[in-house]
Parts: sequence; C-alpha cells; structure tokens
Amino acid sequence: MSANESTHLPMSDSHVVVTGSSSGIGKATAIEMAKQGARKVLIHYRSNIRGAEGTAKEIEGFGASATLCQADLSVSEDRERLVEVAFREMGNIDAWVNNAGVDVLTGEIASLDFEKKLEKLLTVDLVGTISLSRMVVARWRLLGNKPVPPSMTFIGWDQAMKGMEGDAGQMFGPVKAAVMAYASNLAQSVAPNIRVNTVAPGWIKTAWGSETTEYWSERAKSQALMNRWGEPNDVARAVVFLSQKDNQFFTGQTLEVNGGWNRRYHQG
Ligand SMILES: NC(=O)c1ccc[n+]([C@@H]2O[C@H](COP(=O)([O-])OP(=O)(O)OC[C@H]3O[C@@H](n4cnc5c(N)ncnc54)[C@H](OP(=O)(O)O)[C@@H]3O)[C@@H](O)[C@H]2O)c1
Repeated sequence: MSANESTHLPMSDSHVVVTGSSSGIGKATAIEMAKQGARKVLIHYRSNIRGAEGTAKEIEGFGASATLCQADLSVSEDRERLVEVAFREMGNIDAWVNNAGVDVLTGEIASLDFEKKLEKLLTVDLVGTISLSRMVVARWRLLGNKPVPPSMTFIGWDQAMKGMEGDAGQMFGPVKAAVMAYASNLAQSVAPNIRVNTVAPGWIKTAWGSETTEYWSERAKSQALMNRWGEPNDVARAVVFLSQKDNQFFTGQTLEVNGGWNRRYHQG
C-alpha cells in the first residue's frame, strides 16, 4: 500500500517544497514527507541533478508525485523562477522547507579563505533564504488565508548562539543565528495565517561528517547525550512534526535535533 492510500498520515494530501533536497538533510526531509503522506513534493537542487533524481525516485515509491526544479539561491532570477515553478506546478503549497545551504567544508570550496566562505554562506544561506521566503509569503498572501495555515520551516544550527571555537563556528554561527532570528521575526509578522518554525540540527552525519577525522567524529558523538551522530532522518522527522497540519499550535518555535547537548564533565 502506498502512503497516499492509507487513511491518515501526518502529511496526508499535502503539497510540499524542500529546498536543497538533492542530498543530506533536504533529501531525507523530502522523502520523509512522501512517506508521511505528502501527495506532491517539489525537489529543489542547484547542481546535483542525479541526487535530485534519486530523491524523486524514492518519493515516487511512496506514491507521491515529484517535481524537480534547479535554482541557484544566490541568483535573484533563479529564486523568482523557483517560486514561480513551485506555485504553478503544485497549486497550493502546504509546507515550505528552507533547507538549502552551502557546504563550505567539503569539495573545492573548502580550500577558499575565510572571507570567501563567509560571503558564500551569507549570500546563499542568509540573503537567498530570506529573499525566497519573502516571495513565498507574498504568494501565500495573494492566494488568501486558508482555514489551515501553511507552514514554513527554516534550518538553523544548535550551536549558533551558544558558540563554537574555530573558523567553522565563526562562519556558521553568525549566519545560522541570523537565519533563526529571521524565522522568529517572520513568525511574529505572519501569524496566525502562516506558521513559521525552525529546526536547529546538531552534529548530523552528511558529507562532512562522513569523511571527517576521528577527533571530530568522537566529539560529535560525545557532545550528544544519546552518544551518536545525528542522521539526516532525525532532522527530517522534526521538520515533518512542525509542518503537519495537525500541529496548528506550533509557530515561532525552535526545535533542536542534537540528541540532547551533553553538559556532563568528562563522560561519554
Ligand atoms: N549536516 C549538519 O551537521 C548540519 C548542522 C546544522 C545545520 N545544517 C544545515 O542543514 C542544511 C542541509 O545541510 P546538509 O548537511 O544536508 O548539506 P548538503 O548535503 O550539502 O545539502 C545542501 C543542499 O543545498 C543545496 N545548495 C547548496 N548551494 C546552493 C545554492 N547556491 N543554491 C541553491 N541550493 C544550494 C545543495 O544543492 P546541490 O548539491 O544540488 O548543488 C544541496 O541540495 C544546510 O542549510 C546546513 O547548513 C547542517
């Protein structure tokens, strides 16, 4: 039986957009949405078309339909096109997930200097995400208020405001803190007609986590009370929880997905 044939699942009959769903957390989120009953899922990607096609295949396996859309979020025309395609292809959109973010830790970008990496993160993760969100909100408003308000979820970072030493902390910290601040302010601006929440992942095993050193791997595990890396699916389930139509009383929230931060002294 496909997800859409079952009686009631958390995302039953929903139309969902997940940015950056060609890999990692976005991919897991798009697939989890379909598994939990979403009827239509828009898979956005920038360059990894094979990854996006892989996501589509898995989504279709759950009985949902998949639409692919390429867009570089650092380019304003691309952002406009993504919103255009999304509303044209999906009709109404029940849940929009702003997940896309530049990976500055692996691949060629990793060898750039601090300022260049910071610039990329600011352009894509912050300016691109804010600009995109504002266009989506404007389209939702044009369509008029719905009995069930649509949901927008942002992806932050659990350590953004707590602080982490080193260049990674000094780059991701301010960028993701700003994304989370934007989400909180947007939630205040659009309630009760649109719900806005943030999921703040901890150490999640995606590309960097899979190839990192033993030091960072051990550190990632021991900083979680659950004593393991987070998986993309752990984050995906939290996004589904906040996006689902039944959870109407959740807005302006930040949900950390980090296995519980370990504050114990010298313990695993
Ligand atoms: N992994 C973690 O531990 C962790 C922790 C906290 C927060 N996060 C955040 O969670 C989100 C997903 O991370 P991930 O680890 O799953 O990374 P990932 O596997 O590298 O996925 C990133 C996604 O963003 C897309 N993207 C990158 N640059 C883009 C651009 N200029 N325009 C449009 N899309 C772009 C990628 O598209 P293409 O590959 O198709 O180009 C890909 O689909 C990011 O915002 C990240 O900062 C991750």
